[in-house]
Amino acid sequence: MQDWQRSVIYQIYPKSFHSHAGNPTGDLLGVAAKLDYLQWLGVDCLWITPFLRSPQRDNGYDISDYYAIDPSYGTMADCELLIAEAGKRGIKLMLDIVVNHTSIEHTWFQQARSSLDNPYRDFYIWRDQPNNWESKFGGSAWEYEAQTGQYFLHLFDHTQADLNWDNPKVRAEVFKLMRFWRDKGVGGFRLDVINLISKPADFPADNTDGRRFYTDGPNVHQYLQEMHREVFEDHDLINVGEMSSTSLEHCIRYSRPDSRELSMTFNFHHLKVDYPNMQKWVRADFDFLELKRILSDWQTGMQTGGGWNALFWCNHDQPRVVSRFGDDGEHRVVSAKMLGTALHFLQGTPFIYQGEELGMTNPGFEHIEQYRDVETLNIYRLKREAGESEASSMAAIMQKSRDNSRTPMQWSAQPNAGFSSTEPWIGLPASATQINVENQLDDTTSVLHHYRQLIASRRSEPLIQDGVYRQLLPTHKQVWVYLREGDGERLLVVNNFYGAACEVELPERVITDCMLQRQVISNYPDGEVRKRQLFLRPYESFVLHLTDH
Ligand code: GLC
Repeated sequence: MQDWQRSVIYQIYPKSFHSHAGNPTGDLLGVAAKLDYLQWLGVDCLWITPFLRSPQRDNGYDISDYYAIDPSYGTMADCELLIAEAGKRGIKLMLDIVVNHTSIEHTWFQQARSSLDNPYRDFYIWRDQPNNWESKFGGSAWEYEAQTGQYFLHLFDHTQADLNWDNPKVRAEVFKLMRFWRDKGVGGFRLDVINLISKPADFPADNTDGRRFYTDGPNVHQYLQEMHREVFEDHDLINVGEMSSTSLEHCIRYSRPDSRELSMTFNFHHLKVDYPNMQKWVRADFDFLELKRILSDWQTGMQTGGGWNALFWCNHDQPRVVSRFGDDGEHRVVSAKMLGTALHFLQGTPFIYQGEELGMTNPGFEHIEQYRDVETLNIYRLKREAGESEASSMAAIMQKSRDNSRTPMQWSAQPNAGFSSTEPWIGLPASATQINVENQLDDTTSVLHHYRQLIASRRSEPLIQDGVYRQLLPTHKQVWVYLREGDGERLLVVNNFYGAACEVELPERVITDCMLQRQVISNYPDGEVRKRQLFLRPYESFVLHLTDH
């Protein structure tokens, strides 16, 4: 077992974490000011989303200089201080590297666009005619560049031009900038949409949006192995790849130690259970049986294949999980705890997104003017142009927008939730005065204390790392029950995903009278002795450690 296989990683969206300078946006010194809190929580590593120089069209996922800190976040000295201060507390810092594309303001692109024979022309992907591939943010994936009369590829916004990884000079530049950050002392990398870097040379098209051609593309494993040799080898780094629309087979290859590629992978299949017919921008309830099926298949598949999962419910691109798969009203506290437990007892490395540990909710913004995200604004425009009503467009956006998770971290009941002394760049939910760190620190029954206990359990319960995953009652419509089994002992993890009480009967021999039972965690205060016949209260969840006599 590697050290990072016992770790818990905390994700920070620095624009919305804490403003030390008292600006509308957060900064790196704001992160440094909260390190004691993160140490208290017990996390091992921080993934900080991009803070390198960028026009911020996609909040930093559009980098214009890989060697400079964006002035809105501070200076290189602030970054060095943050790395050093985190290190003193035993916390590593994971840098978010965006190298599928750059901003069109990057000098490479500025050079490339200037003439057909510029030495940087081949850093990007140009065609005389576009094919029908679509941008993940809506519309065509090709943008016409009048100066040279060709189209360039952008799988995301038209200001995010895809790099041409088949050009060895591009790869050399990428590995060089990664070594620069490695040598500055970062503890690893989160690699943005890294499975999209290899496009087939002939740019095939059919009647789909094109993703099946460039996802997990022809040379992706070869390029990651090269990255491993050039950057990771002989260094103690945690590297997680964000894999868009990927497959289990590829994720096993990306993350198996003997592939010499990455430590672990994020995939998103379990977060598409509220996309009816794979359409994100439609309001819909989630499909619970699908959620269990997908998570269970990935547990078993990665375990047998020798890969390693990055586990997560939330990030800066996803709505808040308590609003999504729990209940952000009456049952907010128990359901947020249940969701934490359900995820943290799986095999893999859990990621906690800022505010998830408080049970923060979607803000419920009703007007498009309250949204800032480029994807959301693009989609709104496309929906309205296509004739969809304001009400239906907004219903989908309120449920699905990435801005749901981008509101400021709620530190206290002070103005702006203690995030900044100035009005933040995006609004806050009204509930911020109740749901905040200050309130929960002193309350041992809070969601925050539950997450702290989950983090601690990961170290105290070895079965979480290596116990064999087995799902029970896979067709039960309300409860997700699974085991993590070892030699003569097991963890039994029971989660009621709904607000209705229910009774379940476990299969024989899962829990018998002659087993010793110890409750590891629970979201109701009065733990009881459990039998095969279980009565579960709304959103009730608990974990038992069982030992055969
Ligand atoms: C990833 C990021 C997302 C960004 C996109 C393009 O999915 O998480 O925020 O917009 O890549 O870089």
